[in-house]
Amino acid sequence: MHQIEIPKNVDKQQQLDSLLSQIEALIATENDLIANLSNIAAVLKQTRAYFWVGFYLVKGNELVLGPFQGPVACTRIGYGKGVCGAAWKAAEVMVVPDVEQFPGHIACSGDSKSEVVLPVIKNGEVSMVLDVDSDQIDDFDQQEVAFLKQVVALI
Ligand code: SME
Repeated sequence: MHQIEIPKNVDKQQQLDSLLSQIEALIATENDLIANLSNIAAVLKQTRAYFWVGFYLVKGNELVLGPFQGPVACTRIGYGKGVCGAAWKAAEVMVVPDVEQFPGHIACSGDSKSEVVLPVIKNGEVSMVLDVDSDQIDDFDQQEVAFLKQVVALI
């Protein structure tokens, strides 16, 4: 049984570094992908002020909703569609400070205002994306995005 501790009286970087090590420890002893993705989503939702956090898994020519935390979400996203599909197609991290300014953004919830999507690349191919939504505009600074990149590198 793992208890996630958020260190107090330290700066944001130290908190993020601590969280990263705790996530690493949490998944180190389990080799089931869905179990680990589920716990990663839970830790991120529990410790960061995200509105929605979860994974979409590449299945054929679509992304299909995987483990997540937050409100009910769209289940299938086509290749190149929305921010998630665009990150899949480009195989690059997409940071969207204002979702209303992103052509083709898929609004699973009207409360989502900014978003970051990070592809997970296995054997040169995108196998899934991590999608993180905030209900605040421009909520993902470089430090937060760097942290999320480190999280997906653990997968
Ligand atoms: N907004 C995403 C869709 C997924 S939901 O935000 C959970 C997109 O445009 O790809």
